[in-house]
Amino acid sequence: MCGIVGYIGNEDAKEILLKGLEKLEYRGYDSAGIAVMGQDDVHVFKEKGRIADLREIVDVTLSATTGIGHTRWATHGVPSKSNAHPHQSASGRFTLVHNGVIENYELLKQQYLMDIPMKSDTDTEVVVQLIEVNVNKGLSVEEAFSQTLKVLKGSYAIGLLDNENPDVIYVAKNKSPLLVGIGEDFNVIASDAMAMLQVTDQFVELMDQEIVLVKKEGVTIKNLQGDVIERAPYTAQLDASDIEKGTYPHFMLKEIDEQPLVIRKIIQQYQNDNGELTIDPEIVDAVNESDRIYIIAAGTSYHAGLVGKQFIEKLAEVPVEVHIASEFGYNIPLLSAKPLFIFISQSGETADSRAVLVQIKKLGHKSLTITNVPGSTLSREADYTLLLHAGPEIAVASTKAYTAQLAVLAILAEVTAKSTGKDVSLDLIRELGIAANAMETLCDEKEQIEQMASEYVQTTRNAFFIGRGIDYYVCLEGALKLKEISYIQAEGFAGGELKHGTIALIEEGTPIIALATQESVNLSIRGNVKEVVARGANPLIISMKGLEMEGDRFVIPEVHELLTPLISVVPLQLFAYYAALHRDCDVDKPRNLAKSVTVE
Ligand code: M6R
Repeated sequence: MCGIVGYIGNEDAKEILLKGLEKLEYRGYDSAGIAVMGQDDVHVFKEKGRIADLREIVDVTLSATTGIGHTRWATHGVPSKSNAHPHQSASGRFTLVHNGVIENYELLKQQYLMDIPMKSDTDTEVVVQLIEVNVNKGLSVEEAFSQTLKVLKGSYAIGLLDNENPDVIYVAKNKSPLLVGIGEDFNVIASDAMAMLQVTDQFVELMDQEIVLVKKEGVTIKNLQGDVIERAPYTAQLDASDIEKGTYPHFMLKEIDEQPLVIRKIIQQYQNDNGELTIDPEIVDAVNESDRIYIIAAGTSYHAGLVGKQFIEKLAEVPVEVHIASEFGYNIPLLSAKPLFIFISQSGETADSRAVLVQIKKLGHKSLTITNVPGSTLSREADYTLLLHAGPEIAVASTKAYTAQLAVLAILAEVTAKSTGKDVSLDLIRELGIAANAMETLCDEKEQIEQMASEYVQTTRNAFFIGRGIDYYVCLEGALKLKEISYIQAEGFAGGELKHGTIALIEEGTPIIALATQESVNLSIRGNVKEVVARGANPLIISMKGLEMEGDRFVIPEVHELLTPLISVVPLQLFAYYAALHRDCDVDKPRNLAKSVTVE
């Protein structure tokens, strides 16, 4: 989704901003822009399309050491040059970039800006125009900025330049993430530390509704009352090589291949000196004290939650409900007496999940976030955090975060079960190790999967994934992967549900990808495959060693039956990857999608 960068120092701001925006490309965007302070004036460059297109129009001869930049993912107004950020006030004195959504922008326009001709269809422009209107009333820029923020409803992260004072970038945030990066003789702003790792690894977190003055020599953070706040920077635990593709053609493929390593790293991170799996006792107590767990998540993380429910119910014996965040927030079900909320989110920034967290905190309920990003909003705001340790996930399509979520959920379930003396027959460290090895074997079988993808989906309009029990949840994930990057309409269904409607969609040649990794339902899922084959479907059965039958197209190595999702998802991820490649799609940056969905 939208991204912000800013730089104030002695170096060429244009290049630092453009490089920063390139690092944010993975988040998904449709236009981009930068504004830099030249000798005489602010110069704004913006373009629809990719950063490469923006680079083409930036005046390389311009000398500037201060500037702000933005990648826009359209919410209000179509993707276009005029709607791209930065936006400027009527006189051109103020220039602003904004992430988030100003919910009351129409009202603000009517109340304060009827005489100002708007240059865009965005909610953002209202903010910069309002700042100028307030300055024209006689307020200082800082006062005008603060007054403007007070009337905004919604979410924002803002960087503001004032032509008449080139020595400062004004910054503020509410709900949307924004960091200040600290350097020697320069400072930066970024919505994601990755963007500015090129110049610093020291970052200061900002809190909602603070006003921050970022100058070359220093950073001043003020609260709503105007008091100065001291806050020490932290070191971003990111390795610059983690965010490079290396020899891989796409981040998605790199991240699929990283999965065995990630599982092994998780085992290490959650092991104590005695070699046992361990989790913060407060978290274990919170699970044990709850009478019901509510897992809240979106997309792939929601699919991980469905599998996590199986782990927690089967091992820890605590009932679990899994909810889509955007639904839960508007329709809270009858809650149990002692609920524990678990938020699963790769980014830790998903606005739908955060909206639920805000609500359940008001109700006084406890919360745990399972995330890949330390210091992310969901992590900061929940009572407890468990980290995925998967390293940055750049491809929009989530892969290694999903399997990491499963591993961490399994560890949570096992450690909780053992804490109350339950007889857990599964040796999780050993089984996760076996799963990691099996993943490695699968990653070596790319050619076979590429062949299958080319046969099945090159010309098809749609594809169906079917499974039963835990396989069904993996089918939902496999279908999401395929649709989001190859644009084939793909859906996951419970095998037994087909005959209640979906089977009407089966035509001659319709691809049906069936998972058969569970002994208890092996025969019934095969019966469902026969039903669709009788109606012309083209089946591709992925089974597990020991359960394979004649005609199965791909057999995954045998792992513990509860952990099969960690393995069975790998051929589906690769299948989606190669299907997208064969269809010439932009694998890492699929159309219309954003990596981190920071608007509700
Ligand atoms: O960062 P989150 O895990 O909260 O993101 C949730 C979804 O937006 C995300 O999983 C999305 O579905 C992925 N693009 C799927 O590959």
